[in-house]
Amino acid sequence: MAALTFQSKVAIVTGCSSGIGLSTTLSFLSHGAKVLGIDVASFDHSIPEDLKPSFVFHQADLTLANAISDAITACKSNFGPRIDILINGAGVGDGFSSADAVTNGEWDRVISINLSVPVKLMRAVLPSMVEHQHGAIVNICSRASDSGATAGIAYTASKHGLAGATKNVAWRFRNQGIRCNAVCPGGVVTNIGKSVNMEWFDPAGFAEFQPIFGLHVSNDQGTGLPAPHIKPEDVADGILFLASEKAKKINGVLLPIDTAWSTI
Ligand SMILES: NC(=O)c1ccc[n+]([C@@H]2O[C@H](COP(=O)([O-])OP(=O)(O)OC[C@H]3O[C@@H](n4cnc5c(N)ncnc54)[C@H](O)[C@@H]3O)[C@@H](O)[C@H]2O)c1
Repeated sequence: MAALTFQSKVAIVTGCSSGIGLSTTLSFLSHGAKVLGIDVASFDHSIPEDLKPSFVFHQADLTLANAISDAITACKSNFGPRIDILINGAGVGDGFSSADAVTNGEWDRVISINLSVPVKLMRAVLPSMVEHQHGAIVNICSRASDSGATAGIAYTASKHGLAGATKNVAWRFRNQGIRCNAVCPGGVVTNIGKSVNMEWFDPAGFAEFQPIFGLHVSNDQGTGLPAPHIKPEDVADGILFLASEKAKKINGVLLPIDTAWSTI
């Protein structure tokens, strides 16, 4: 079986400054890849000295006009024209608002970063992948990619949409050496809670979804809030596998990483 190596591969990882994207970035680097990491937040983490030449941080709000084409230009000017891997990790949580309460602002914000940006990034890297007849895309979906009971309507719709986009790309480009898969994490210990816009928090929606969380996570003793037990590294392991040659015949899957939460 081929070793898990990404020697001389070029990967773009969005959401690289925190959580799953950060862990995925560090893991790709330690497995030999060159990584262009993109995030709206600054990158405040140390990279081992010997891996520094393989990492370029590109700070950008990917929802803004020209942000994606600028990021692709940055990748090519640092690492050359070939892009082997795209990891769509940047994302935000919603305020658990339901169809009767979601504001235009919340809907647009969540759909934009969680769904429109990943699709536009796939569109941007596919020409290079088609030219080289080689590429691996991994989208970070969610339990909310096939459950209606774990988030508000905006997050749920964005992650269902991303699941559909993943399968669509997988089928369309299957004969051109390109694979597109997704991971569907359960609750993971990250900073995603900070991305919830509390101005748009819907307590009634949250009250309906919290019992479903309770089947998967424990409650923090102090705050009573959901306490996930899956680490970003656990999700990064799945992402690297799907991006690797070990998964060369795996295309169009949505891989749950959720300690069996998806079985209910
Ligand atoms: N944490 C969980 O429980 C969980 C579960 C399932 C899926 N996910 C998904 O995992 C992905 C990563 O989230 P995380 O949990 O690591 O959260 P996180 O908040 O720790 O990391 C997300 C990163 O995305 C960046 N980002 C947000 N908006 C951006 C924008 N407009 N442009 C560029 N970067 C932007 C943030 O700055 C942040 O660094 C998300 O897509 C999220 O929906 C998370």
